[in-house]
Amino acid sequence: MIKPSIRASSTSAYYFSQKLSEISQLEAQGRTILNLGIGNPDRAPDPKVTTALIEAAGKEEAHQYQSYRCTPALRQALSAWYKRCFGVVLHPQDEVLPLIGSKEGIMHLSLAFLDKGDEVLIPDPGYPIYASAAAVAGARAVPYNLTAAQGWLPDVAELESLISPATKMLWLNFPGNPTGAVASRADLQALIAFAHKYQILLCHDNPYALVLNEEPLSILRIDGAKEVAVELNSLSKSHNMPGWRLGMLAGKAAYLNAVAKMKSYSDTGIFRPIQEAAIVALEADEGWYKLLQHTYLERRELICQLLDTLQCTYATRGAGLYLWAAIPAGWQDSFAYSNYLLNTFDLFVAPGPVYGRNGAGYIRVALTQPAEALAQLLQKVQQHELSSLQV
Ligand SMILES: Cc1ncc(COP(=O)(O)O)c(C=O)c1O
Repeated sequence: MIKPSIRASSTSAYYFSQKLSEISQLEAQGRTILNLGIGNPDRAPDPKVTTALIEAAGKEEAHQYQSYRCTPALRQALSAWYKRCFGVVLHPQDEVLPLIGSKEGIMHLSLAFLDKGDEVLIPDPGYPIYASAAAVAGARAVPYNLTAAQGWLPDVAELESLISPATKMLWLNFPGNPTGAVASRADLQALIAFAHKYQILLCHDNPYALVLNEEPLSILRIDGAKEVAVELNSLSKSHNMPGWRLGMLAGKAAYLNAVAKMKSYSDTGIFRPIQEAAIVALEADEGWYKLLQHTYLERRELICQLLDTLQCTYATRGAGLYLWAAIPAGWQDSFAYSNYLLNTFDLFVAPGPVYGRNGAGYIRVALTQPAEALAQLLQKVQQHELSSLQV
């Protein structure tokens, strides 16, 4: 066996890739596990979108390598979507960069802006890929605290205390994964001022903007943002297209150029039929977003009842695709509690510490299973709780 690089050996495997193979083994033994652990939208995109994909795939020229920055029509559609949803004007030529999902963008932003020894401020709890991407780039991830006491929002005074001459970048994510916290315009203004003061790149990851969020906000809407901030977005959650791998980076051309350069070493644009179908998805009207909200609202109510029955407490319903809840009194460890739910109810939820130290004592529950399955689960849990009271 030829030894993998130090980089490959020193970064641990993504928790979910390991856990999902454990779940597959349980399913192979005949168990049916309800997976509320992963934010993987289960519904199909609008049928118009799949029709556009099939039609485009039938064209002779659809199968060639594509332009590195994809078609002008896709960039135009992404730019129009940003204008419509967030009131942000992006030049389609060079202020929009299509991505193979925003996860890819997190890695390439890190490779484009971080050198060995640089420091990156990352949210704790937060999406684990920010830290992994920093490690791959040879940089050091410095967690900043998000806590219940602060409404899971960053404290600028704490960020000030974590700044060093090596700080290069700050990751933000609102509505937040895993907490569902939403930042106000004033919160974002303070963070933009902070980035100007210390001349660091603020990377806002915004894939949940259009899920159960009353006031979708782009950081690029804030005055002075383009000088210091870029924003990632994605069709995974807003258009039920997680497996299609379609995201975008928005911001100043010079920042996007650096990322495009890194990308050009690993990919060659996006499969043309996906680009053409994405344009159709991006043209969705109010009806699409209403349907999305309706679906997730119904599920969220059922999951709130489930959490109440389990005596897990959630402070707010937040926005986005998850409920973030404290485990019941008497349980010390989120991993043990998650395993208890798996063993007792065939239910998988994500243990909070997967997202950082401040996730200790919490679980994250995704709204990504049909209401019927959630209602059945609720009944099972209610019966179990009732019978344990009677014992
Ligand atoms: C905060 C956050 N950023 C990025 C991603 C990746 O999304 P995409 O499917 O666009 O790669 C996820 C996925 O769950 C996420 O939660």
